Amino acid sequence: MSEFWNQRYAVDEYVFGTEPNAFLASQASRFSPGQRVLAVADGEGRNGVWLARQGLDVLAVDVSPPAIAKAEKLAAQHGVTLQTELADLLGWEWGENRFDVVVAIFIQFVGPAERTLIHQSMRRTLKPGGLLILQGYTPKQLEYRTGGPSQVENLYTAADLRREFAGMEFLHLVESEREISEGAGHSGMSALVEMVARKI
Ligand SMILES: C[S@@+](CC[C@H](N)C(=O)[O-])C[C@H]1O[C@@H](n2cnc3c(N)ncnc32)[C@H](O)[C@@H]1O
Repeated sequence: MSEFWNQRYAVDEYVFGTEPNAFLASQASRFSPGQRVLAVADGEGRNGVWLARQGLDVLAVDVSPPAIAKAEKLAAQHGVTLQTELADLLGWEWGENRFDVVVAIFIQFVGPAERTLIHQSMRRTLKPGGLLILQGYTPKQLEYRTGGPSQVENLYTAADLRREFAGMEFLHLVESEREISEGAGHSGMSALVEMVARKI
């Protein structure tokens, strides 16, 4: 798994660009400086660094060493502190009630069983009242093939998320089809699902 990502990231350019994910950036008004944020599978750091630039205290976790190195370089370029941790999230100690915000942007690297474990861990590590901000591709993305995994079982719908995160308060849960432009990795018309949910 990490070998696949190490090879993808072994280029000078940032595969998903250096600008934050547009959906995440659209949620800026929900953040307050000093909040503790977990950026899940943050890759080359475009989102973690942007969150740190908003005055947030960010831990970025990813399984790929070149991704972490590029994230640290991007943080240095912006003069912000980004805490990083190299780890496989399937065996990571997520802890309980640790974060004000958990950010999960395109983390579709597992099928349903392991996904459920990751989703449970994300919910557990949020503090009560904390926010989970997520974007991913729906199965329809296999018609567009403009990014994301090719395994249909790794993709999900808003209904899947509503079921998996039942008991949280859904502030935003929407499927949409639109153009995105995130480096060479995600580019073109895309079938997306996005969610903001609060831990009660
Ligand atoms: C599509 S990329 C998205 C990266 C980042 N979230 C973004 O939006 O730019 C998926 C990321 O998942 C990471 N990843 C894959 N399997 C992982 C695992 N088991 N534990 C931690 N990270 C993993 C990869 O290294 C890669 O950076």
